[in-house]
Amino acid sequence: MKAKITIHKDYIISSIDKRLYGSFLEHLGRAIYEGIYEPNHPSSNSKGYRMDVMETIKDLDMPVIRYPGGNFVSAFNWEDSVGPKKLRPKRIDLAWKTTETNEFGLNEFMDWSKEANTEAMMAINLGSRGVESAVNLVEYCNHPSGSYWSDLRVSHGYKEPHNIKMWCLGNEMDGPWQVGHKTAYEYGRLANETAKALRKFDNNLELIVCGSSNDRMKTYPDWEAEVLDQSYDSVDYISLHQYWDNYEKDTASYLANTVVLDTYLKTVESVITYIKSKKRSKKDIKISFDEWNPWYHTRSQNITAEDELDLTNANWPEAPHLYEEMYNIQDALLVGSVLNSFINNSHIVKIACMAQLVNVIGAISTVTGGISWKQSIYYPLYFASKYGRGEAMNIIIDSPKYSCKIADDVNYIDASCVLNASKKELIFFIINKNLKENIDIDFNIHGIDLLTIEEQQSLFDEDLYASNTAENPNRIIPKNVSFSKLENNTLVTSLPKLSYNVIRCKMEKK
Ligand code: AHR
Repeated sequence: MKAKITIHKDYIISSIDKRLYGSFLEHLGRAIYEGIYEPNHPSSNSKGYRMDVMETIKDLDMPVIRYPGGNFVSAFNWEDSVGPKKLRPKRIDLAWKTTETNEFGLNEFMDWSKEANTEAMMAINLGSRGVESAVNLVEYCNHPSGSYWSDLRVSHGYKEPHNIKMWCLGNEMDGPWQVGHKTAYEYGRLANETAKALRKFDNNLELIVCGSSNDRMKTYPDWEAEVLDQSYDSVDYISLHQYWDNYEKDTASYLANTVVLDTYLKTVESVITYIKSKKRSKKDIKISFDEWNPWYHTRSQNITAEDELDLTNANWPEAPHLYEEMYNIQDALLVGSVLNSFINNSHIVKIACMAQLVNVIGAISTVTGGISWKQSIYYPLYFASKYGRGEAMNIIIDSPKYSCKIADDVNYIDASCVLNASKKELIFFIINKNLKENIDIDFNIHGIDLLTIEEQQSLFDEDLYASNTAENPNRIIPKNVSFSKLENNTLVTSLPKLSYNVIRCKMEKK
């Protein structure tokens, strides 16, 4: 099979916001406790941070991490999580039917994120709470001193304000499972009033309003239209979420999910344009895709997470093992393909957070008191974050196609291309979705001379269902390969069936 990829030096989609390569940590299961924080772990520092996990996260050069939820945030009192640890109350967490000790809280997270070289994206409770607690929280975090809430922070040992820029106005407020679930009109009004109040404090905050929890919600995409109609002038981003599954073991359909994702993005972009026109506004709203990942290995088909929890977690445990997915090669290919969609839509998607980072639906797994390791899905995120900085090139893909349950005319070859002018590099991220055959690709690269191929990495595995586990943590790891070559300055490659590939070239613009 043969495919062709064409790019031109002047045909650029957008410069890429590095925040496309973010992630998410929620007070859920063992994401925080025994994930990033485990005071008794041999690798932990004096603050209780697991340094093995910290180093693995630092390798991702993660630009942003969303915190503290998720569904958790919709019944969370942020005040419980600050001040002397001994005085912090234990609370039941209604979202996940567990007990939250509040041993690790807001200020600990801000300390941790500094050490992890990442920026916090903080979610506000607009489920059980409202404008007042949101304003108090932002004053506590960001006001230098001289007011009740800022002085409280200072008294907690944090003289300098945290200066948190990104704030999510609630979480998945369209979901009936959410504590304080609202109609689009109710939520749009509340988000708008909260945003207006926060802007009185600081007009430069970046505010993210909730869009749909997924594109299968009955209220999608009317939800986006109503919420933006209420809040357009007060917010900067609309948040989208999506989790994918492969319960049917139908690999072709599973990997075609990004065709549906592209439609989801286009639809929400159109809704934004519609409301912008309706309001005669000059302002642009962008997308923050702040929860996404495969999620199905630890859930049952047709049973919601909440039903499962009702059955299994009646005792309100502390930090139980929840949703600790073991990902296979197919999941890594889907993740690579989702990242390609974000790069190819980087004119509208400016923030994205893989959900989640550690243990819970996580790219990194830990054993309590023991090792930590990388899941297969870690690697596409690693390469995208490491090399996907610069400008997204308009990539024309002429590929053989297939049809499956969820889409027709799906390209076997899925790709994105990034030009990093400062490093003089052209980088391709390419997935071969064909289950049986290698695909040869010819490249037409206009206006750019490729000088050398600096690096070629590939992720593939004969066993579609194997994963990295505590016993075998390196079952799926990238391999240095030589599938690609430069022939008379022309790039040619042949990529194995079901593989994720990175080709990094040194280049000179003509
Ligand atoms: O990431 C797990 C959960 O999925 C989040 O708490 C929620 O926002 C989503 O439904």
